[in-house]
Formats: sequence, structure tokens, C-alpha cells
Amino acid sequence: MLDRSSKIYVAGHKGMVGAAIWRALERKGYTNLIGKSSKDLDLRDQPAVRAFYKEYHPEVVIDAAARVGGILANNNYPYQFLMENMLIQNNLIDGALHHDCRKFIFLGSSCIYPKLASQPLKEEYLLTGPLEPTNEWYALAKISGVKACEAIRKQYGKDFVSLMPTNLYGPYDNFDLETSHVLPAMMRKFHEARENGHAPVTLWGSGTPKREFLHVDDMADAVVFAMENRFEDNLYNVGTGQDLTIRELAELIQKVTGHQGDIIWDSGKPDGTPRKLMDVSKMTEAGWKAKTGLEEGVRDTYRWFVGNISQIKEVKF
Ligand SMILES: NC(=O)c1ccc[n+]([C@@H]2O[C@H](COP(=O)([O-])OP(=O)(O)OC[C@H]3O[C@@H](n4cnc5c(N)ncnc54)[C@H](OP(=O)(O)O)[C@@H]3O)[C@@H](O)[C@H]2O)c1
Repeated sequence: MLDRSSKIYVAGHKGMVGAAIWRALERKGYTNLIGKSSKDLDLRDQPAVRAFYKEYHPEVVIDAAARVGGILANNNYPYQFLMENMLIQNNLIDGALHHDCRKFIFLGSSCIYPKLASQPLKEEYLLTGPLEPTNEWYALAKISGVKACEAIRKQYGKDFVSLMPTNLYGPYDNFDLETSHVLPAMMRKFHEARENGHAPVTLWGSGTPKREFLHVDDMADAVVFAMENRFEDNLYNVGTGQDLTIRELAELIQKVTGHQGDIIWDSGKPDGTPRKLMDVSKMTEAGWKAKTGLEEGVRDTYRWFVGNISQIKEVKF
């Protein structure tokens, strides 16, 4: 369906996920890639996005641009998480429809599923119960993106696909302690505590919630797979299908970073959803599976972190 010179626009190509998709496409020999930073093209600006489509006519659009962050950032900036994400995705999706793009891949997140949904999370649980309140703004924006792609598939028969990744980690992650996700935040805390004479590390919550983590290069591989194959449905979970407790994750990161001090669990801080594990059988049936084990992925990320410590990303709001 696509050849190596097909024009592919990766929105958010400088972000953790977008950069991994860009690397994966280059590795596979795709030569006609388009990337624009938010300074060159603010995706919240509809006239600018329309002008972009008119000028470039991409055949494929991969939407890895979004306002992302952890519990604290979601709590403090609900309006930005809701509105900026809707503006970005609406402009991209609507532009792709009107310029007759052959494929659109929308990236959401596992937080679209109800807080108390049965585990593992199946795609069919969408909109069957209330969301986790700490990130409902972000989740609502993402749900509206999934539904926009589904409506286009239903009404126009176009191959618009929504991939819902579990928690991602890897090179180019956000390591800011106020706005980052749990894995990079822990990595930085343990690293800095080790540098600081193995000082104790304080972590949020009880350590009992269970989470699943996918290396961003595996996610990129899933995106390329979805791009190269026609999908019969709109919504697919992407993960490893395996989880562990936050305490087990902390112990793994402590081992990888070489920290030998104490871990203090601050139970006054929120835990979030008790368990979040994806059912990945639909994606497995479509023909795709994750390849990177968690310890291997954490070691790879830590090597990248140490090698890039002077320029690690700290996303501020
Ligand atoms: N990280 C995770 O654990 C995770 C998990 C599940 C799903 N996802 C999804 O994966 C996607 C990418 O996440 P990420 O972790 O790669 O985020 P990220 O590192 O923060 O990158 C986000 C990208 O979006 C771009 N962007 C943000 N606002 C923009 C705007 N107004 N105009 C143009 N570009 C804009 C940024 O561009 P500039 O750098 O040029 O400003 C950046 O490249 C998101 O849809 C997210 O929901 C991520």
C-alpha cells in the first residue's frame, strides 16, 4: 500500500514517542518524512494547520503531538490538558480527512478507560463507567479523538486507527520531577540520591498500585506496523500485557541505578488507579507483539539518561 517514498507527517516528532517513530521509520527506509516543531507549526492554530495540509499533502499522518504529563500536572492544569489536546487532534484529524490522507494514526492513552473497569482493560470497556478524576481532562480529550477517528471510519470508510499505549518510557522522556510520569521521575530521584551519597529516596503513595510499562521503541514499532497494514477496526490497545507493583518497579530502578539507600513511601500522596493493565489480545491477533523486557528497557533508558544528563527534558507548564 505504501512505498518508501510515501509522504509521512509525524506530528510531535521531537517528543519522546514522535522521535522514536521517526527513528523507526528511518530504520525501515522511509525517506519522505515531514516534521515540524511547535514553534514552526502550532497545532492549536487551525488556519496554520489547514495551510500546512494544503502545502504538504501528506499521505500518512501520525499524531504523536499532545500536552502530556503526570498526576500533578493534570491536577494543576485541567483546562490545558482538555483544550490543548482537543485543539491539536481536531485540527490534525479534520485536516487529514479533508486532504484525503490514506492513513491517520491517533495516539491516546490507557487512561481513557473507566477507573474501576475490570482488568485487563479491553477496548470494549470504553465509556462504560466514570474516569479516574486525576486525569479525566486529558482522558476526555483523548476519548473525543478516538471517537472522531471512529466516526470517520464509519462514515467515510477511511483507515483511521487509534492506538492506546500503556505507560511508555525510554530515551527523550520528560525527567522533570513535577510534571513527569512515574518511571522517569523515579529514575532521576534514585540517580540523584546515589550521587548524593545514597541519600534516602521518597516516593509517592503506598507502592501497591500495579502498572504496565512499554519501551517507546516497541511503541514506535507498533505504529509502523499499524501504518503498513490495513486495520479492520478503529481502537487497539498497545502494551506488553504484563504489570508489576510500583514497589517492584522502584526496586528494579534502584538496582539499575546502583542506589543503596532507603526508600520512604509517602502514603499522604495519591496512588491513582489501583491497577492498570492492558488486554493486548486484539493487537496480538492483528499480528503485533512487544519485544523489549522491562529490565532491558530500564537499563537502556538509564544509559540514555546518564549519557544525556546535561540536556534531559524538563517540561514546565
Ligand atoms: N509518554 C507516555 O507514557 C505516553 C503513554 C501513552 C500515550 N502517550 C501518547 O503519546 C503521544 C506523545 O507523547 P510523548 O510522551 O511523546 O509527549 P512529549 O514528549 O511531551 O512530546 C509531545 C510533542 O507534542 C508536540 N506538541 C505539543 N503541543 C504542541 C502544539 N501546540 N503544536 C505542535 N506540537 C505540539 C511537542 O512539540 P515541541 O517539542 O516542538 O514543542 C512534542 O514534540 C501523546 O499523544 C500521548 O498521549 C504517551
